[in-house]
Amino acid sequence: MTTHSLSVRTVSVDLGARSYRIEIGAKLLQQGLKYLLDWVAPEVPGKLRLLLVADSAVVETHARALALSLQAGGPEVHLLQVPSGESTKSSVQLQRIYDALVEMAADRRTIVAAIGGGVTGDLAGFAAATYARGLRFLQVPTTLLSMVDSSVGGKTGINHPRGKNLIGAFHQPMGVLIDPAVLQTLPDREYRSGLAEVVKYGVILDADFFEFLERNVTGLSARDPQVLSAVICRSCELKADVVRQDEFETTGLRAVLNYGHTFGHAFEALAGYGQLLHGEAVSIGMLCASRLAEKLGRITADVTDRQQRLLEALQLPVHVPSDLRDRPAEIVQCMLLDKKTEGRELRFVLPSRLGHVETVRGVTSEQALSVL
Ligand code: GLY
Repeated sequence: MTTHSLSVRTVSVDLGARSYRIEIGAKLLQQGLKYLLDWVAPEVPGKLRLLLVADSAVVETHARALALSLQAGGPEVHLLQVPSGESTKSSVQLQRIYDALVEMAADRRTIVAAIGGGVTGDLAGFAAATYARGLRFLQVPTTLLSMVDSSVGGKTGINHPRGKNLIGAFHQPMGVLIDPAVLQTLPDREYRSGLAEVVKYGVILDADFFEFLERNVTGLSARDPQVLSAVICRSCELKADVVRQDEFETTGLRAVLNYGHTFGHAFEALAGYGQLLHGEAVSIGMLCASRLAEKLGRITADVTDRQQRLLEALQLPVHVPSDLRDRPAEIVQCMLLDKKTEGRELRFVLPSRLGHVETVRGVTSEQALSVL
């Protein structure tokens, strides 16, 4: 990580020819023009043309102003709004992006930029990955969850009616622009949901970072700009390092990022998408996974207790909702359908101490259900 003028921190994602930078700085969005153009211009000869795909929730607050400031600097900018919410990761919305690209006569030099949360980034990224066999892509995440997770690492895609993220591609962005100041207006529940993924990084990779979070609960809850900037930066560094080592999820290393997600995805799907936010489901899922690790004799109870205390202090849910506890068969079915499952074997990412996890195979459904 490097820090330069205007308190902008840069995290590099080192992937050879696909390397890029994550720029993190308060009020960076307002200077987006300079930063975006600085990165993009040397790589794209001629007049810049950009399709800005924006979550409708941020059109009036951020996207329109960004489009105007970009246009004032010379590039041709087209703005396309997509609805907020998971159902936007659909073939219908994907087709709307393709239509907009056809309409503006996009060519290989055209850039797609996403501004919004993970849904917008995944959808626009997949359009960029597939249109004309691949367009350049920029991420401008505006939720905590997308800043610390989905905007980094190149996973793009849409949902199939029978499964989340079933249709997708790895397509790295050419840059990620993060302005933590936009988090000041994020709805509380959504903000806290993002904190669950931040806690996850501490548990899976960095015990010191976990301790930092424990010491900074007040700052995190108050959205203290300094704390936020440090937390986003460290989360991005940790994710970038995992992605660098296992970009295409082939060695199993990248799977560590799924800690809490096997249980979490099942809870999210069964509660009905949107009932339990992703981070809320992951919060409960991490504690289930940690209790499972205890049952299997991999950790002692204090590792789970510390996670529970931190998650509770951050006002995240820590108990499986009672109506879901009554649906064990469906929970197992969902966990087996998870696309990271191999064959019909339940596999979990489980802690072996704070700051370290391992993938554990051959867990029985009885063992998994015993921790609900
Ligand atoms: N969100 C998990 C990953 O990017 O691999």
